[in-house]
Amino acid sequence: MTALLDIAIHDKSYGARRVLHNLQLQLHRGEIVSLIGASGCGKSSLLSIVAGLDTSFRGTLRMGGKPLAGVHADIGLIFQEPRLFPWLTVAQNIAFGLGAGGENDPRVAQLLEEVGLQGHAHSLPKQLSGGQAQRAAIARGLFGQPRILLLDEPFSAVDAFTRMKLQDLLAAVAARHGLSVLLVTHDIDEALHLSDRIVMLDTRAGPRRAHYDVAAPRPRVRTPAAQAQLKETILGELHAAHAI
Ligand SMILES: Nc1ncnc2c1ncn2[C@@H]1O[C@H](COP(=O)(O)OP(=O)(O)OP(=O)(O)O)[C@@H](O)[C@H]1O
Ligand SMILES: [Mg+2]
Repeated sequence: MTALLDIAIHDKSYGARRVLHNLQLQLHRGEIVSLIGASGCGKSSLLSIVAGLDTSFRGTLRMGGKPLAGVHADIGLIFQEPRLFPWLTVAQNIAFGLGAGGENDPRVAQLLEEVGLQGHAHSLPKQLSGGQAQRAAIARGLFGQPRILLLDEPFSAVDAFTRMKLQDLLAAVAARHGLSVLLVTHDIDEALHLSDRIVMLDTRAGPRRAHYDVAAPRPRVRTPAAQAQLKETILGELHAAHAI
């Protein structure tokens, strides 16, 4: 079956510094893939390329078999910090892509409800907590009705409890909207909880790359014991990668 997203990056360098080399990664329909790896190994660089924000690389991107170039409406991107426009209301931020008056689109109210922000349509970002602001960013990411959602450490700036709530929200919206998700995270438990597959980038060891399948069906309950063995294996690999 053709992958929804087919990534083949032969080379991504910043000047003389090569960051990604011979990377092949496929994302299938409805799949959640977590990308882990040491700081500086190129995870954010990869996401920028897939989002179409960085076109200075050698390689090809395909969506549904067709070449992909530049920013694409089918791909939504959510960053570590919400990046809301401070002078716009929550509703205006969500509907930003539609321009003036877009906040009256009925889908804004639907999305606000879906992410648990009903009643905050007219709030300004500074009136939101960190977790609420990230919920608004998720709603904005969904507004364009993407098929693929890219997330770069989206929950690392919130407390542990809020993080769990946001993880469950992501799992729920991904299932409801039939999204395919590529999630960069440093949190192995988050990767084990959310993803079908975990990919470890390890550029210092050359093109070595490890894939781990997380077999349990989604949605998952949080039972640390269930995936303890896989967690041990992944942590061992990460330690090995750091030691190089
Ligand atoms: N615009 C840039 N110009 C030059 N070098 C860059 C640029 N962006 C990233 N780099 C370098 O490329 C490498 C990979 O960076 P990247 O941000 O992709 O790593 P990362 O895996 O996302 O790390 P982290 O886990 O810390 O977020 C790093 O060595 C970084 O210094
Ligand atoms: Mg990064």
